[in-house]
Amino acid sequence: MLRFSSVFLLISLLFSTVAAKTHKFVYNATWTLANPDGTKERPVISFNGSWPLPVININKGDSIELTLINGLGGDISTSLHFHGLFQEGSNHMDGPVGVTQCPIPPGQSFTYNFTVNQVGTYWYHSHSGSQYSDGLRGMLIVHDEEIESKYEWDHEIPLTLSDWYHAPSSELVKMQLTRYNPTGAEPIPQNSLFNDTKNVTVEVDYEKTYLFRIVNMGVMVSQYFFVEDHDLTVIEVDGVYTQPKKTSMVYLSVGQRMSVLLTTKAKKDVTKNFCIVHSFDDSMLDVVPPELQVTSVNYLSYDKSFPKPEPSKKFYDIDSYEPLDDFELKPISNKTALADPDHRIEVALHMDNLGDGLGLKPSNLWIQHKYICFAIW
Ligand SMILES: *[C@@H]1O[C@H](CO)[C@@H](O)[C@H](O)[C@H]1NC(C)=O
Ligand SMILES: *[C@@H]1O[C@H](CO)[C@@H](O)[C@H](O)[C@H]1NC(C)=O
Ligand SMILES: *[C@@H]1O[C@H](CO)[C@@H](O)[C@H](O)[C@H]1NC(C)=O
Ligand SMILES: *[C@@H]1O[C@H](CO)[C@@H](O)[C@H](O)[C@H]1NC(C)=O
Ligand SMILES: *[C@@H]1O[C@H](CO)[C@@H](O)[C@H](O)[C@H]1NC(C)=O
Ligand SMILES: *[C@@H]1O[C@H](CO)[C@@H](O)[C@H](O)[C@H]1NC(C)=O
Repeated sequence: MLRFSSVFLLISLLFSTVAAKTHKFVYNATWTLANPDGTKERPVISFNGSWPLPVININKGDSIELTLINGLGGDISTSLHFHGLFQEGSNHMDGPVGVTQCPIPPGQSFTYNFTVNQVGTYWYHSHSGSQYSDGLRGMLIVHDEEIESKYEWDHEIPLTLSDWYHAPSSELVKMQLTRYNPTGAEPIPQNSLFNDTKNVTVEVDYEKTYLFRIVNMGVMVSQYFFVEDHDLTVIEVDGVYTQPKKTSMVYLSVGQRMSVLLTTKAKKDVTKNFCIVHSFDDSMLDVVPPELQVTSVNYLSYDKSFPKPEPSKKFYDIDSYEPLDDFELKPISNKTALADPDHRIEVALHMDNLGDGLGLKPSNLWIQHKYICFAIW
């Protein structure tokens, strides 16, 4: 009997070690046409002709072996960065061209091969110039039963927000880096996207909890997100699960991820459908052209027979928004912040574009923080 149970133990141990999977993908990055905002068709970068790009779901401890073929033609190089992953021991898989790897030339490929020991919501994107504004970007979700079991939800819904430009990335760079743009003002987006489209209807059931995993995979502009007349409970930010924090609105800067729970109402309390709203932080834009749709509305639908909800005027009053201050979030691990340092060294970084609009190097294009403070313990 004893012998049997040790064999059993051995088998289960063996099983748990083989449980980590290797996810293999081969994608050919090629051009296709898409019209995600319904106003202009433009070339976007697909995987094997499909766009938007797939959501990759893996478990903690799994490995990714993703071969990216550069089928973009011409003299266009590419690469892939997995945003938020530390790449401990696999730095050469991090993706920024000219930093950890040579660009992948047209007709060639590169295999990104690494193991993921983090958890939560991430994304992947081209790290060759500003190429991800051409659509080479998608979500990566790392599940972990142990941490996810601390919360309860019925359905999980990935969701991306982004700004959207009608000009290709090559032209955006030229618009910014020119002597006719001496202040280095960033190009203004033509639209915002909700899951790489607009006017989305999310169908929900009564009295269920939905986990929205949200990524702002835009290039430049932060966004607000809220659902009319529903609370959101934040449980993760940037791969760190948090003590649940209730709020009516969240704010996601570019690159940021947040997971929020939304519990739907009881049938007796529902007489209409609701708006899902996202808005640009228009204070980041040098000019707000009158035709730019700063606030966009999508739909949370309890019952298809109810009419489309009318957006309220207050959705458009961004100055009155009160998003959660994410400094209020506490990690579920209860890890405390580091104590005050004994010595502080402040390094002031100055973004100098030499007054001719060309001093910015493409690699500095998206730097927004002028001051970095180092503290040494
Ligand atoms: C994409 O195309 C590549 C190259 O032709 C092929 O090896 C791969 O299996 C395709 N992947 C998918 C998901 O279709
Ligand atoms: C979204 O709806 C608006 C208003 O009905 C319409 O003008 C626009 O083309 C739609 N966009 C997409 C991408 O479906
Ligand atoms: C990738 O796509 C390009 C453009 O369509 C094509 O020329 C190339 O043969 C493809 N590569 C592979 C390995 O399928
Ligand atoms: C990925 O890395 C693992 C571990 O180093 C190695 O065994 C495997 O052969 C690699 N795969 C590829 C396609 O290079
Ligand atoms: C966004 O797209 C993904 C992939 O197609 C899909 O699974 C998800 O349900 C969509 N999210 C929303 C809010 O529609
Ligand atoms: C963190 O603190 C809360 C109370 O503030 C407690 O309920 C919880 O068990 C703690 N979690 C861990 C992992 O220690």
